[in-house]
Amino acid sequence: MSRRSRRPRAAAPDGAPGGARCTVTVCRGCCCGTPAKVPHLDHAAQLADLRSALAGVAMIRRTDCLDACERANVIVVQPSPEGRRAGGRPVWLGQVNDPGAAADITAWVEAGGPGLADPPGVLDLYAFQPSRRVRNEFED
Ligand code: FES
Repeated sequence: MSRRSRRPRAAAPDGAPGGARCTVTVCRGCCCGTPAKVPHLDHAAQLADLRSALAGVAMIRRTDCLDACERANVIVVQPSPEGRRAGGRPVWLGQVNDPGAAADITAWVEAGGPGLADPPGVLDLYAFQPSRRVRNEFED
């Protein structure tokens, strides 16, 4: 266990750990969230489950294509302000097409997310680096 995951975090007035929340961006564009690209996954349930599990913990937002369609379904976990100050950066996850992956994302975000808690090791299988252009457009 790293030092990051043992770090105490203050409770925010709204109950979210560490002050302002992480943001979880769920792509639902031309490929992500479509049975044509990713069959055998209940895409609506994936988004609903994330919204339900992270209610009051993180902001969940749905976005149009993030220009990484070859990795559908794409989810980006952005750090809270506290997490960013601690060195956390947005983490891009691709091929999040297993219900267990969404559960792992939920557990990580509940623990503080980027910069404040180490992600479950299995999320390494999904993490990728988008091109600089895509990353810059997303963060602007
Ligand atoms: S539809 Fe998600 S990256 Fe293009």
